[in-house]
Amino acid sequence: MNARSDEQIAGMQAAGQAVRAAFEAMKAAAVNGISTLDLDRIGAGILAEYGAKSAPQLYYDFPGATCISVNHRAAHGIPGELIINDGDMVNIDVSANLNGYVADMGESFVVGDGSSDQSRICSAVQEAVYSAIEKVRPGRSLNVIGKAVQAVADREGYSIVKNLGSHGVGNSIHEEPSYIPYNNPRERRKLVKGMVLTIEPFFSTGVEWVHEEEDGWTLSVPPGNLVAQYEHTLIVTEKQALVVTA
Ligand code: CO
Ligand code: CO
Repeated sequence: MNARSDEQIAGMQAAGQAVRAAFEAMKAAAVNGISTLDLDRIGAGILAEYGAKSAPQLYYDFPGATCISVNHRAAHGIPGELIINDGDMVNIDVSANLNGYVADMGESFVVGDGSSDQSRICSAVQEAVYSAIEKVRPGRSLNVIGKAVQAVADREGYSIVKNLGSHGVGNSIHEEPSYIPYNNPRERRKLVKGMVLTIEPFFSTGVEWVHEEEDGWTLSVPPGNLVAQYEHTLIVTEKQALVVTA
């Protein structure tokens, strides 16, 4: 989407607030002993209160309102019987359509007392997103995002997953520009005023490619590796980008 009118910007902000509210309720409830299905129900309830429709359900017939990916699972984890335990790393990704506007956000975090390795990768990927957001301006190369993300990954010694993309969003869940947030000098596309897009790198302890599990949805790294994502939806403006999922 290209959001320039006040109405479009307000629409994106409202969608951003709905997914943020669902995420926060789910994160607060993500404690030892809860199943991912029960967590998903909490998120679904909040989206319904806002009048928002789950984007994965709406656009992909995903078997859940939100994606919940635990430990070596990177993305698109199906809510189900799986019980969350202290020390698990959980990724919750919430995207929804509210009144025709679609926003998307996600975060990996540790439940209870995790290891310092787990917290470090979660902080690093979050830092990478904020450092990339600072660089977003109309007219600059889309690669300013990948460069900023890669600088943090390199400094912290993580790999960037190369088959999980960031994307345009707003009218639908996945729009152009679709891109991998790593330093790609061949990237020729430019950021444009009003462009609505996500920044959502996945950092891993050396793994560059996620594989699909037998359920046909879940994308994972081999067990024993860490993987963490952080995602915001933002609108490119003349000044600092407007983060609608903050
Ligand atoms: Co996304
Ligand atoms: Co997402």
